Amino acid sequence: DSIKVFAPGTVANVACGFDVIGLAMNAPGDEMVVRRTSQPGIRIKAIHGADLPTDPARNVASVAVQALLQKYDQPDTGIEIEIFKHIHPGSGIGSSAASSAGAVVAVNHLLGEPFTKKQLVRFAMEGERLACGSAHADNVAPAILGGFTLVRSYRPLDITTLHTPAELWVTVIHPQIEVKTSDAREILKQKVLMTDAIRQWGNVGAMVAALYQEDYDLISRSLEDVIVEPIRSILIPAFQELKLRCKEAGALGGGISGSGPSVFMLSKGETNARKVAETMNSVYAPLGVDYKIYVSRV
Ligand code: HSE
Repeated sequence: DSIKVFAPGTVANVACGFDVIGLAMNAPGDEMVVRRTSQPGIRIKAIHGADLPTDPARNVASVAVQALLQKYDQPDTGIEIEIFKHIHPGSGIGSSAASSAGAVVAVNHLLGEPFTKKQLVRFAMEGERLACGSAHADNVAPAILGGFTLVRSYRPLDITTLHTPAELWVTVIHPQIEVKTSDAREILKQKVLMTDAIRQWGNVGAMVAALYQEDYDLISRSLEDVIVEPIRSILIPAFQELKLRCKEAGALGGGISGSGPSVFMLSKGETNARKVAETMNSVYAPLGVDYKIYVSRV
């Protein structure tokens, strides 16, 4: 009664889609081994590769599983979770989401799939609430459902998957500086200008159309965020130069991954995505900041 799951890294926000559009990557991703035990309660057996709480009340995976077991009406089911982290916590590529999502997918399987994938998103969101104080779904939804996802509404929760163009690749640079999601949310303005809102929803609509039409030029034009990026980008070293140089190197466009500090760029095809990785490297190498770069199919 045990299962091993792969929990993918995710890019939330996807430029114009703050809190609503996310995408899943093939790599990096965490691995988790989840077992049913006769001893009641949830236990975090070990976490390899990161210094994270193993207290079940403070770990996102166990909190998400607890939400699932409550709904299943068997809160005393015995579950043991072992996590092999490959996604750096605080990277902006959905580290907490991967743990929450992987855990609920695994437990749902061990219980004989009583819940749909969309129902699992709601449980995983409880992990996000613990991680940053806000139960956003734009990382956990793509981590569970795969590809691109869109949150139409939070209340009631209404999530849909979007088409993923066949040749879409993502390149992510993770500067090893700390940006806390809770801080990155706190600095945002609570009101937006009507002119900015019009531009943003124009971009969101166009992005969705472009994904279905596999129209890479339209994807490129709609990868623009006039509301959140201007505020958050000041937290990321050389952000404007990075974006400009990546676009010159052939990227369709990109932005801040989740709440940062990672930055993502979308490209048509692997060759372009790897060229973008080289460009990211040449922008960041002189800065004296440690960083990691990932290239993955969406
Ligand atoms: N949409 C969330 C935010 C994602 O940007 O705050 C956090 O990873």
